[in-house]
Amino acid sequence: MAKAVIAGNWKMHMTCAEARAFAEAFLPLVADLPSDREVILAPPFTAIAALSEALSGSAIKISSQNVHWDGSGAYTGMISAPMLLEHGVTHAIVGHSEPRKYYSETDEQINHRARAAQEAGLIPILCVGESDAQRESGEAERVIRRQVEQGVDGLDPAALVVAYEPIWAIGTGKTCAAAEANRICALIRGWVGFPEITIQYGGSVKADNIDQLMAQSDIDGVLVGGASLDPAGFARIAGYQVPVTA
Ligand code: 13P
Repeated sequence: MAKAVIAGNWKMHMTCAEARAFAEAFLPLVADLPSDREVILAPPFTAIAALSEALSGSAIKISSQNVHWDGSGAYTGMISAPMLLEHGVTHAIVGHSEPRKYYSETDEQINHRARAAQEAGLIPILCVGESDAQRESGEAERVIRRQVEQGVDGLDPAALVVAYEPIWAIGTGKTCAAAEANRICALIRGWVGFPEITIQYGGSVKADNIDQLMAQSDIDGVLVGGASLDPAGFARIAGYQVPVTA
């Protein structure tokens, strides 16, 4: 069975010094995690090298928060997959709702990013999710399905993570109810058409809701924002426990 994937997206937080201090506090807390899960941190680009060094010798992996579709070129401000691989990065978040919203990223661009990441040997974490207005107007499933189908086009689903992050649950404290998150994740599994695909839930994941989320049949991991900035809190999330079923 594939490992659960617990990832922390630091967004635009953490200097190099702060990332090193996080690693120092975090590593002892996750030294004895069960082997059924992997833990990933996604720092800002500037802290990747420092964090990679601070985590060396541990099982904690590093993701970027985005990646360009070309290996190099005249793309001011962008970072390519080979640049990330040089620092031991293993995953790349693509299609997060924040770059979709603030930088108008399209499904086509996101798919190019994911394809380039995969071709270079990175595992894309493809984010999808509907806005509040789209959910209210009954559009959620149509929107997510489009994001999934266009996003995964041409990708190997065996080297891919899809993260369902309803926008209205991000940074709001309004977690999607576990049963509803599970229902959407099951739909995504069907739309990808690969039963073994790893699907995460993201949006106000906290120490007090992680166990319930991870107990769901179609939630294989979580993508955590705010609660991943605190070493003890994120260690609690990484150490989630699900009830043993008889
Ligand atoms: P929060 O956990 O802060 O709601 O953020 C979720 C997210 O956007 C992770 O990518």
